[in-house]
Amino acid sequence: MNAPVKNPRAPVEAGTWSAVRPDFPTLDQQVNGHPLVYFDSAATSQKPLPVLQALDHYYRCDNANVHRGIHELSNRATHAFEGARRRAAEFLRAGRPEEIVFTRGTTESINLVANTWGAANLKPGDRILLTEMEHHSNLVPWQLIAQRTGATLSFIPVTGDDGLLDLSRFDELLDNHVRLFACTHVSNTLGTVNPVAGLFARARRKGIVTLLDAAQSAGHLPLDVQELGCDFLACSGHKMCGPTGIGLLYGRQELLEAMPPWQGGGEMISSVDYHESRWNTPPHKFEAGTPDIAGAVGLHAAMDYLDGLGRDRIFAHDQELAAYAFERLKSLSGVRLFGPNAGRSGVVSFLLDDVHAHDLVTVADQYGVALRGGHHCNQPLMRKLGVASTARASFYFYNTRTEVDRLIEVLSEIRRFFSA
Ligand code: ALA
Repeated sequence: MNAPVKNPRAPVEAGTWSAVRPDFPTLDQQVNGHPLVYFDSAATSQKPLPVLQALDHYYRCDNANVHRGIHELSNRATHAFEGARRRAAEFLRAGRPEEIVFTRGTTESINLVANTWGAANLKPGDRILLTEMEHHSNLVPWQLIAQRTGATLSFIPVTGDDGLLDLSRFDELLDNHVRLFACTHVSNTLGTVNPVAGLFARARRKGIVTLLDAAQSAGHLPLDVQELGCDFLACSGHKMCGPTGIGLLYGRQELLEAMPPWQGGGEMISSVDYHESRWNTPPHKFEAGTPDIAGAVGLHAAMDYLDGLGRDRIFAHDQELAAYAFERLKSLSGVRLFGPNAGRSGVVSFLLDDVHAHDLVTVADQYGVALRGGHHCNQPLMRKLGVASTARASFYFYNTRTEVDRLIEVLSEIRRFFSA
């Protein structure tokens, strides 16, 4: 039986990131007769061998249900699951493991907060402050709870194609009606890295609860929920080298304790009668039913892997590659680029002449280059920018400059093809 791999990756030096590629079997293949160039990591990242091995080991050796059995395998599964929780607390610098709730991902984490904290605390006349660059998962749950409670939404505007938050009226927007401020850390479409720590500090001084959507940042840069000053943080395992179907909600202990449960079922109760029940303590109060145990085990391995490399180094590499791609794209005639000129994360959105983003992405795929084309779950932002969709290249530490050069070559081909 193969043992799970510990401390899988030592840091790599700048310029030697291709050393990690053998860890990612998926990257080593031909697509449509060309070597795969995977530029869709903002949608989901590829998975390194230690994560695959951890999943395999768990299912081969330890598989059982958690918290319930008194037998050896159940103890091992519980130990692995709760070990992953402790690791997640350390990964996000939470004060204690009980502040980590396992969910299916960012979307479920935000829905959980909206349906528990939101349902218990929002009333007519209250406001939820968001930004115009939120992913649908940090917008629609708030629309739903606003409809139920009579609260309303307000938005920090986005400046335009350069994709920054217009903070000139921020203090005005933080008026006495605002109860919650929820903001994305890194925009999945624009690549903007928002100055959330400063914004959250200003919001919390006014007693406003803060939520960080860290879907695009948790696997890319070091996060410290205490320094960031967020009351809640949501992220997804699959965007940070972990499996799909597992995610994290960090919640400050006092808030989690005061919140009502969301889903009912096993594990979230302390005792049950036919007509009423009493709740377990957090985080179990929010984890009804059998959780994704294997997912948590895989996520644990992913967090070890990322921290072996160093998230500060990963972010430096993302930024360097994105800046290189941005400059090279700028040199192509007919390109419209979205997002900030400087300081962007590893996401670059663009349009090429009047080629529809879907056509561009479909042809790029014929050359083995995986991009994403569409509204990126940012429909209101697309309308604001006056476009139906964009093409998006998103990078991670396993991508290289040579792959960016290949993208530029392919885009030049596409321009020739559509202008012929
Ligand atoms: N939120 C994911 C993306 O931006 C799916 O692609």
